[in-house]
Parts: sequence; C-alpha cells; structure tokens
Amino acid sequence: MIDNSWTEDAWTALVEKVEKTSQVIGPRFPTMTDNTGRYALTDDTWRWVTGFWPGLLWLLHDDTNHTPFADLALQCEMRMDEALNEYVNLHHDVGFMWQLTSVKRFKSSGDMDARRRGLVAASHLASRFNIVGRYLSAWNVNDVNDSDPRGLSIIDSLMNLPLLYWASEETGDPRFRHIAIAHTETVIKHFIRPDHSVNHMVEFDPFTGEKVRVRSGQGHSITSAWSRGTSWAVHGMALAYKYTKDPRYLEVARNVADFFIRELPADNVPHWDFGVPRDDATPRDTSAGMCAACGMLLIASELEDKDAEKYLSAANAIAKSTYETFGSWDNDSDGIIRGGTFNHPQGLGIDVSLIYGDYYYVEALSKLRKI
Ligand code: GLY
Repeated sequence: MIDNSWTEDAWTALVEKVEKTSQVIGPRFPTMTDNTGRYALTDDTWRWVTGFWPGLLWLLHDDTNHTPFADLALQCEMRMDEALNEYVNLHHDVGFMWQLTSVKRFKSSGDMDARRRGLVAASHLASRFNIVGRYLSAWNVNDVNDSDPRGLSIIDSLMNLPLLYWASEETGDPRFRHIAIAHTETVIKHFIRPDHSVNHMVEFDPFTGEKVRVRSGQGHSITSAWSRGTSWAVHGMALAYKYTKDPRYLEVARNVADFFIRELPADNVPHWDFGVPRDDATPRDTSAGMCAACGMLLIASELEDKDAEKYLSAANAIAKSTYETFGSWDNDSDGIIRGGTFNHPQGLGIDVSLIYGDYYYVEALSKLRKI
C-alpha cells in the first residue's frame, strides 16, 4: 500500500485556497499566472482551457458541497454558450470544454440543457473526423508554419474522446464511438514511437489521407519527447481502455506510462521535455506530472493489486513532490501549483501556474486521498 497520509493536509490547504481565489476569479476563465502571480483571466469563451476552472470547482464541490463553487461553475458553463453558438472558433478541444462542465453536470443532475450542450459539442467533435485519414483535425487556422490546418492531428485529442464515448452511451448511436476508436487506432499507428515516447503532431494530406510528416509544436524538436504530450498519451490511452476494454489500449497506456516514469528526475516532477539535456536549471512542467499521475491512477484502477502498485506509487510520488515543492498555499499567487511550462520553444509561460495543471492536481488529490 502507498502512504497517502499527506493528502489530508494537502486537501485542507487546497479547499481553503480555492475558497479565497474563487472570490477573485469569479465566473471567468483563468489561463496561466503572470509575473505577479495573478491568473490572467479571459472572456474568450472559445479558448481550449475554459472548462478547467469550472471543472475544478465541480471536483471540489463533489467533496465539500460548498454552494458558491457550484454557482460559479454553472455561471461559467452558461457563459461558454457564446462559443458553442458562435461555432466558427470551435476546435477539437470541445471535449476538455464540455466534458468537464455540461457532461459532468448532466451526470449528477440529469439537467437536459447540460445534456444538450454536451451532445452539440460531441457532434462538433465528430464532424472533425477526416474519413480518408481516419483522424480528428485539431484546429481551423494555420498556427503551424507551412502546414495545412485541415491535415493536422495532435496527441492531445485523445483527451477529448470521452465526449464521444459518452455521446454514444447517451444516445444509443454508435457513430461517435466508432470515430473515437478510429482516431485512437491512428494514434497507435502514427504517434506512438517504438520506444513508447510520442509525436506531438502528425500532418496528413486531408484529401488523400496519406501521412505527410511529423511536426513539432510545444516540444523541443520532432524527435524529442514533450512531457505534457506524453502525459496526454498516458491519460488518453488509459481513458480509451476505460471506455472500450480493448486490452491493446491498456498495454499502450502502460508502455507510455513506463516511459514517463523512467524519465522522471529524482524528485519525481517532470522536466518540460524528456529529450533535452537536463540539469537543475531545466524548467519543469508540473501540469505534465499531474495529468500523467491521473492517467496512472486510472491504469492502476484497471489492474490487479501487484501490477497496480507501480502506477499507484508513481502517481502518489509525483503528486506528493508537487505538493511539497511547487504548492502555492499563501496569498501571493492565484494558482494552486507552480512550475508549469506552457510553451518553452516560444518562451511563453515558464514556471507558472497553468489552470490545467491545477485541475489535474485536484483530480489526482481527490482520488489519492480515497485510496
Ligand atoms: N493542449 C495544449 C497544451 O497542452 O498546451
């Protein structure tokens, strides 16, 4: 058994912190902290991160029943209608956005408006499937030099697929699930490398479906291993197994998790990229650590005791070290954990709090304390 005795103090500190910061952040959308420690807040409701703050509030509400958390989360969900109705700026991350908000709320309350929002978002995600290439196209605009946005597929999309599995369960129509599985097969074929690290982006020809090339985005290079991309793969493949029970998906999830664990430094908090020369000055990415830890907890929950122990113990070690070294429990910062890296190649958001790092920290802690 793991020693999770640290999680009770950590949970108390977390709830106290969010009771304070939620009064400052309100029904808005935090992205990452600036150099004063305050969260940059956005009203652009189409941004991919918008679901994480209301999602985090729902996770805390599950445990505390603190009504202001639910009120704020609901207000955020309503505000996100602007993006859902506008449609043109929607992208593959509708999963992050509406799975953590509307779908979560529908599951606990049966609210039909929440169900409708989830199904509209799932329909949008399904519509992004390129049938000849068998991939979900990530974006609408050309953010990556010399590439056709219609052909770009990214590892992060795995995390959006639960929205499709849910839509099939909810409607009884298997189309959404077929698309999720087809995209997952493409990930296994084109993204997972022989050493079980992963490509961040693969470009396809959107007309023929042929693979064009591997692209690098937030990682150091096309051959390095961006740690957050690796964590999306650990967690995303674990989710693929949860919804399909296909043993190949569990095997891939375990292999990528094993790679992630092998690359962790002595203190168990990952560097931003596993393929760069690393020393004490190399930035970390706590968001990668916490997302991977949540994936490892999911893997452990699907295994017998002896095999589960390795993933439970790695998840516990990552979360404990993040809490002790990168936890932010004073009033100097709105973030919960520091040490996140948003985009190292562009020099953006290094050693900051990222709202998705905070979200996965809360998810991991809420599970670890109940083990
Ligand atoms: N999904 C974008 C990122 O991980 O930064």
